[in-house]
Amino acid sequence: MVRITTSTICGTDLHILKGDLPLVAEGRVLGHEAIGVVEEVGAGVSEFKVGDKVIVSCVTACLKCDFCKKSMYSHCRKGGWILGYLIDGTQAEYVRIPHADGSLYKFPSDANDEDMLMLSDILPTGFECGVLNGEVKPGDTIAIVGAGPIGLAVLLTAQFYSPAAIIMIDLDDKRLTVAKSFGATTLINSSNGDAAEQVMKLTNGAGVDAAIEAVGVPATFDICQAIVAVGGRIANVGVHGKPVELHLEKLWDRNIALTTRLVDTAATPMLLKVVSSGKLQPAKLVTHRFDMNEILKAYETFGNAAKEGALKVVLTNKAV
Ligand SMILES: NC(=O)c1ccc[n+]([C@@H]2O[C@H](COP(=O)([O-])OP(=O)(O)OC[C@H]3O[C@@H](n4cnc5c(N)ncnc54)[C@H](O)[C@@H]3O)[C@@H](O)[C@H]2O)c1
Ligand SMILES: [Zn+2]
Ligand SMILES: [Zn+2]
Repeated sequence: MVRITTSTICGTDLHILKGDLPLVAEGRVLGHEAIGVVEEVGAGVSEFKVGDKVIVSCVTACLKCDFCKKSMYSHCRKGGWILGYLIDGTQAEYVRIPHADGSLYKFPSDANDEDMLMLSDILPTGFECGVLNGEVKPGDTIAIVGAGPIGLAVLLTAQFYSPAAIIMIDLDDKRLTVAKSFGATTLINSSNGDAAEQVMKLTNGAGVDAAIEAVGVPATFDICQAIVAVGGRIANVGVHGKPVELHLEKLWDRNIALTTRLVDTAATPMLLKVVSSGKLQPAKLVTHRFDMNEILKAYETFGNAAKEGALKVVLTNKAV
């Protein structure tokens, strides 16, 4: 049992509210990201004790099943992504974390909550589903479609590999400006529907080595299909609620790869070291702070991100 001190809202929570994830039962407590303090420990827990400050991972892992043994924790037979989805989540005062040994991380003593909070979901998601699956390499030209917290996490972690060009595509100029300050080399506002043409022009007709989809709607998947270079990768990160049309009539001979992934959080220990070293400061993504009692206001702000200039909206429990 973890007493939550800090939590946040994910784009996936907005998908749940939109009805894109029909397995969510009515009345479910949402939230799969948090920092907290261990309040009670079950009999099966060996690595954590009462009073430990912890990072709650968005993925629950038993560490014993066949998928966990392959580090594919997202499909753990007894867990996976269940928090704030199939079981009550972290936008609360307390949360029960099953299989705590595989689902919590010790909070480094000198770290700050807002940096560490980004390790619950967005950094491992951006890195694993976007950068690793997109096989970003030194010198690559990559495009990230979607400059929300996830797209920006892709942008931050893609730079581990020194791509030569990072094209960032979104509808929101404010988010694009943030992307520029985080290292994007080219910004494209796709409001007028010509993002793919612009990318092809910029790359002299070649397209991009990795097209990373970080939105979750057909229009953005279509951009990725239109801009992937011969031999390139489309790495889908977005949660999709509607079917997309796969243009195999154009792609069949282009030697591309298409990947999908639910974040495994297998990279979290590595990312924790990078963030702890100060090399990445993901707390820069936090734009708004609310008390947990103001959660509806927080959702309104995150749900109207373009108008509000919102990226990560942090919720703090002052009452507990
Ligand atoms: N695969 C996973 O394991 C995993 C984990 C976490 C989140 N996600 C998903 O990643 C996606 C991004 O999450 P987020 O928190 O950054 O969400 P978000 O809603 O904050 O960001 C989405 C961004 O997409 C932009 N956008 C919308 N339509 C667009 C269009 N037509 N062209 C260009 N840009 C467009 C928006 O302006 C916004 O900046 C969501 O679908 C979320 O559910 C996936
Ligand atoms: Zn999430
Ligand atoms: Zn398992």
